[in-house]
Amino acid sequence: MIIEPRTRGFICTTAHPTGCAENVKAQIGYIKSKGLNKGPKKVLVIGASTGFGLASRITSAFGSNASTIGVFFEKPPSEGRTASTGWYNTAAFETEAHKEGLYAKSINGDAFSNEIKAKTLELIKTDLGKIDMVVYSLASPVRTHPETGVRYKSTLKPIGNSYTNKTVDFHTGEVKDITIAPAEGDDVANTVTVMGGEDWQLWIDALQEADLLSENFKTVAYSYIGPKLTEPVYRKGTIGMAKDHLEETAFTITESLKQINGKAYISVNKALVTQSSAAIPVIPLYISLLYKIMKREGIHEGCIEQIHRLYQDRLFLDAVPTDEQGRIRIDDWEMRADVQEQVAKLWQEATTENLSKIGDLEGYRTDFFNLFGFHVEGVDYKEDTNEIVRIPGL
Ligand code: NAD
Ligand code: NA
Repeated sequence: MIIEPRTRGFICTTAHPTGCAENVKAQIGYIKSKGLNKGPKKVLVIGASTGFGLASRITSAFGSNASTIGVFFEKPPSEGRTASTGWYNTAAFETEAHKEGLYAKSINGDAFSNEIKAKTLELIKTDLGKIDMVVYSLASPVRTHPETGVRYKSTLKPIGNSYTNKTVDFHTGEVKDITIAPAEGDDVANTVTVMGGEDWQLWIDALQEADLLSENFKTVAYSYIGPKLTEPVYRKGTIGMAKDHLEETAFTITESLKQINGKAYISVNKALVTQSSAAIPVIPLYISLLYKIMKREGIHEGCIEQIHRLYQDRLFLDAVPTDEQGRIRIDDWEMRADVQEQVAKLWQEATTENLSKIGDLEGYRTDFFNLFGFHVEGVDYKEDTNEIVRIPGL
């Protein structure tokens, strides 16, 4: 069929298999051109189908020939209906990995559930024996707790007071004020339950109990800090409380890995257009201004450049560089004082009329459509495309 983008607010309900495959191939090409001095060998990536998790899987496989198992929650295709983007990304990833003789298998289902954990452990036991790294890159608005069956929802709200600031509708380019009401009731606790560290710890505990972690094992989870500007809705809001919890969990996990000399890391990554970040108010305007400046300074990065730098210049060094809170920082270029000063200045000036000039609205849009395999250079979108793409074993 002819596949076109169909957007509803900050989501796109269709995805293009050829465009997704081109994106994955471009990421693989980047990693092959850069190479890695050192990397993992047997890796489990939780949240492996899009964004930072996909980039981590690609960097592991094509940077250090790692065997990878990817866990994700994606919609398979059906006659006349496209799959979700992570499905097509994974199909392309596995095809390329298998071409090079690399082990790559995937599990599609709810990573928060006991069932998917058990299935993953079984696959590791059968196929890989012990693994030396787990990348935890889930981003989800909901979590059904495995013990109680209660379904929790996360929120993106300020805490204490309502928050008013500028935001942009990146489809129309309209810049306007948005007011977000503060968290109430169990909002904070629920968001921590969904996006905090509990599930990361459950995964590592289960793997360790099953004796599936090798000596010197590493695990990394991704966090975000961002500027003062977005603090009320991000780092000091409900999601920030979840990130605080995730970051504290790294210490608890490290403690539990003592016997195998293992370590849990947090990597603080830069703001990027992904399905998750598009959903956060205010962030798209911030990103479009940030992109403009980082591109001008020649320091712009996407997920793959970020994760390559994480592996090459941080995670696999003998002494892993961290900040005072023990976190790896690959948001260092985003957070540079000169970059942030320029963003803050443009933020004051931004209007519907000038944003496409002072900000990188076009870059934001392109990245957004690229997430779903659209607006990718070299793809003929008029061509009849088979939406039914299979992933071996799924
Ligand atoms: P993403 O939406 O691109 O990826 C989320 C992944 O999680 C996908 O593979 C999806 O299939 C999977 N997933 C979601 N729910 C699942 C479930 N129940 N079971 C199994 N898999 C599930 O998100 P992303 O932006 O790459 O975010 C990954 C991590 O990076 C998050 O912790 C996020 O906070 C962090 N981060 C993001 C940014 C950013 O700007 N995007 C910046 C810094 C850190
Ligand atoms: Na991800």
